[in-house]
Amino acid sequence: MHLTTVATALLTCASFTTALPHSGHSLEKRCTEHEILKALAGTYSLVNTTSALNGKPIPDEAYGKAPVGLLIYTADGWMSATITATEPEFRPNLTFPYQPNDTDADWSAVGRHSIGYAGPLRLSNAIPANETNGQVFHGPLTVANVPTWVGANQRRNYTVIEAGGEKYLKIGSERGGGYTGTLWWKKVKTVA
Ligand SMILES: *[C@@H]1O[C@H](CO)[C@@H](O)[C@H](O)[C@H]1NC(C)=O
Ligand SMILES: *[C@@H]1O[C@H](CO)[C@@H](O)[C@H](O)[C@H]1NC(C)=O
Ligand SMILES: *[C@@H]1O[C@H](CO)[C@@H](O)[C@H](O)[C@H]1NC(C)=O
Ligand SMILES: *[C@@H]1O[C@H](CO)[C@@H](O)[C@H](O)[C@H]1NC(C)=O
Ligand SMILES: *[C@@H]1O[C@H](CO)[C@@H](O)[C@H](O)[C@H]1NC(C)=O
Repeated sequence: MHLTTVATALLTCASFTTALPHSGHSLEKRCTEHEILKALAGTYSLVNTTSALNGKPIPDEAYGKAPVGLLIYTADGWMSATITATEPEFRPNLTFPYQPNDTDADWSAVGRHSIGYAGPLRLSNAIPANETNGQVFHGPLTVANVPTWVGANQRRNYTVIEAGGEKYLKIGSERGGGYTGTLWWKKVKTVA
């Protein structure tokens, strides 16, 4: 690229870099990061999940057989994810806030079968990254229903797959202790 072109590209990008407050990278890397986050940005609806322990498939005890979820990635480096099971036994008909006569067992079922968290979205440099393939961190998480996830960095591999007019995000999730997951998300189309 011609020097002026590079300078212009960096300048154009520089106006966005303040929008990536979590990135510790150089200006040039932050530009690449910005381009990639812009490509990934969107709201995605959960399609399916699979779990494994040390590479061997296991049932997804937490999410159940038909989880629902929304994943939101923004171009300026933020994310939010919420997933819950849908089985009635995992979803007793509780209301919020909790009531004195609610049972701990009911709340326990809800707690065990749902997750919600949000925070910075950052590009990892552990593997080469581009608009369709790479690794990100969810974190350090600002808020999470699971207490030990606050401040944590969740490592996620991403692959973008375009098929049948839909855009899918395949996320490889590392949960620690040998637990991994694969989550397929489908980009939600603009609400008319
Ligand atoms: C999950 O959904 C994707 C996209 O529709 C599909 O390609 C994949 O085979 C599904 N995986 C499972 C385990 O159902
Ligand atoms: C569940 O709770 C909501 C809100 O209190 C109520 O409107 C609904 O009728 C309840 N459904 C069942 C199946 O109990
Ligand atoms: C809990 O209390 C509310 C009123 O305070 C009542 O409407 C509800 O039926 C009670 N639920 C149970 C499971 O007893
Ligand atoms: C992104 O990286 C993947 C894996 O390294 C590669 O297969 C793919 O062709 C790259 N895509 C683009 C658009 O460069
Ligand atoms: C993420 O990608 C890295 C590098 O390809 C790989 O070693 C790791 O197993 C992947 N993790 C998951 C959960 O897909």
